[in-house]
Amino acid sequence: MQEKFYLTTAIDYVNGAPHIGHAYEKILADVIIRHKRQLIDNAFMLTGTDEHGIKIQKTAASKGITPKQLCDENFSKFEQAWKQLEISYDKIIRTTDEEHKKAVKQIFKKLYDNGDIYKHTYTGLYCSGCESFLSPKDLTPDGLCPHHLKKPEEITEENYFFKLSGYKDKLIEYIKSHPDFIVPSFRVNEILNQLENIEDISVSRTKSSVSWAISVPGDDSQSIYVWIDALSNYITAIGYDCENPSELFNKLWPADVQIIGKDIIKFHSIYWTAILMSLGLELPKTILSHGWITIDESKMSKSIGNVISPDTVLKAFNLEHPDAFRYYMASSAQIGRDGNYSDDDFKEKVNADLANNIGNLLNRTLNMLVKYFDGEIKTDFITGADSKMAVLANNTKNLVIEAFNKYEIAEAANYIVSFADSVNKYVTERAPWSLAKEGKTDECAEVLYDVLEAMRHIAVLIYPYCPNIAKDILYQLNQDADFKYTSLIWGGIKAGKLTEKDKIKPVFLRLDSEFAADKKKV
Ligand code: MSP
Repeated sequence: MQEKFYLTTAIDYVNGAPHIGHAYEKILADVIIRHKRQLIDNAFMLTGTDEHGIKIQKTAASKGITPKQLCDENFSKFEQAWKQLEISYDKIIRTTDEEHKKAVKQIFKKLYDNGDIYKHTYTGLYCSGCESFLSPKDLTPDGLCPHHLKKPEEITEENYFFKLSGYKDKLIEYIKSHPDFIVPSFRVNEILNQLENIEDISVSRTKSSVSWAISVPGDDSQSIYVWIDALSNYITAIGYDCENPSELFNKLWPADVQIIGKDIIKFHSIYWTAILMSLGLELPKTILSHGWITIDESKMSKSIGNVISPDTVLKAFNLEHPDAFRYYMASSAQIGRDGNYSDDDFKEKVNADLANNIGNLLNRTLNMLVKYFDGEIKTDFITGADSKMAVLANNTKNLVIEAFNKYEIAEAANYIVSFADSVNKYVTERAPWSLAKEGKTDECAEVLYDVLEAMRHIAVLIYPYCPNIAKDILYQLNQDADFKYTSLIWGGIKAGKLTEKDKIKPVFLRLDSEFAADKKKV
């Protein structure tokens, strides 16, 4: 069977504009999918928006527009943001799409027919931020929702319930016997602890309390409550149908990785997993939960007024493409750990890694090639696969692949930059300018070839993070834009005229401007 890779992200609520926390997740996802596409042909990325629920209903009412109008308005902001950040998804699903709504009803009915959904009167503590009932054990000592720091509302309703408790033992067994299922593994115990006290969950609300939702099939007085609706997107988007799943579904499911934030790991590793078990579908290979992005070490929040959009960062720094921001977001925090955005860190990191380390290296070397060899590579310049740089390039490639296989995205970036660092050191040690002066032309030529061929490797390796810089490096090296890993064979740069003085341009300019933090507020 042809190898495939199916990646999904969380679908964002559209009751506001995207901020850099949403962007962080989509960038991580995009870096992973671009890396997979370098290796295999059949890699598919799904993202989307979560458009039903009480929050949308309330925000729309407060603006005097319909929920659909609000969704349309905000959906286009997400779409625009992902375009600007060059998120190369294959599909973007909206939970208001007709095919999705139809498939969700079918899924609900199948769960009901399986005996996993029943009706029950319930009194519980509801957090509208989570769109979920919370158990008293989940609350902070002051009785607040730990994620939204708001007091949940006590609600009594007759709702449909999903028999989650019936899956408890199966879920525990599955999680314990599949170490790659929950990544990073430090989250596993937290999930196992939550499973110890798991109760059945409400999967509908009365229509009178939530009207902006998909109706329960055969019971118009009830709305399907957001999590069944939202979670199902991962299969409805690729054509799941209980009786007759699409070819795409058969090809892609189960997902290889489902990327989500740490706040919604319970919904994915417990609720979603049990729903899939009930539907008789295979489980995703990995649920990858990332940490949260803070701004200047504080939680982003509308009330603090520090919510920053990706667009304002790009504009504030006058960035014509998103590479620096993508690189910073994907490389600054270990997966699963919280990350922080600050203007100073951003500037410092991208100046050091992209401008000083990678950019200068290319620039200096191309200039030396022009100065000493008129920009030309001669056949006898070409070094073999046993050269020090060739060996280092190959090792780096293997380290990067391994890191990506473990979803260590920041570490993979680090390997690439360390490689560039070593190439810089090699240039300093071998001092091609002195070799040229001393008349050691052959040696000088070989060093320059080593460095330029190493740069070609760096371009391919850094491509998932910085697609524009990578293209520019290959362009300056007079190479085709081939980013497949099959191109990573030493000796790709062939003999012939490579460059000339006025073709050489910096691939990334240092960010040195000063910015008022206020310019970036959403
Ligand atoms: N709609 C639900 C997800 C349903 S998935 C079937 C939701 N939406 S959200 O808009 O609140 O969040 C979308 C994603 O962005 C989540 O994975 C969430 O963890 C992530 N983030 C939201 N704020 C974030 C940060 N400040 N930092 C990093 N990620 C954050 O939850």
